[in-house]
Amino acid sequence: MSQKLNASVTRVSDRPRNPDNKADSMQMQYIVAAKNALAQGKQPKPLMQQLEDQMVGYYPIVTNAMCLQCHGSNPGDISADTAAALDALYPLDQARGYGLDELRGIFVVSMDKE
Ligand code: HEC
Repeated sequence: MSQKLNASVTRVSDRPRNPDNKADSMQMQYIVAAKNALAQGKQPKPLMQQLEDQMVGYYPIVTNAMCLQCHGSNPGDISADTAAALDALYPLDQARGYGLDELRGIFVVSMDKE
């Protein structure tokens, strides 16, 4: 679909595992708002933004129990084998230490207007 609609779909975070997935300043504004909503016990809502020639959608990605195997506390949730692999592949990993129902990151979908 991304090729057919000339759209880009990415996953970014304020605490990226892969440094290529670091949120930019516009994405950070949505991340801060989504975290505030969660802190108030609300589900963060997706956001559509109109730019001059693009539509950009932001969609929250919230942790569940499964995620903690790779994004939870280390040691604790993350097995020694997994931690060793993460250390080797992601020396700049910032994506450990999450609990349940926290904002892990966001999907960003950009489409040309037409
Ligand atoms: C088996 C291990 C594993 C599990 C389980 C896992 N992740 Fe990840 N996650 C990774 C790895 C490895 C990356 C880095 C991917 C890359 O290099 O782009 C990543 C990256 C991400 C990113 C992109 C931003 C970043 O940090 O680079 C998000 C968002 C994310 N994970 C959310 C989740 C959520 C939400 C869950 C549970 C629904 C989850 N992950 C479960 C291993 C895992």
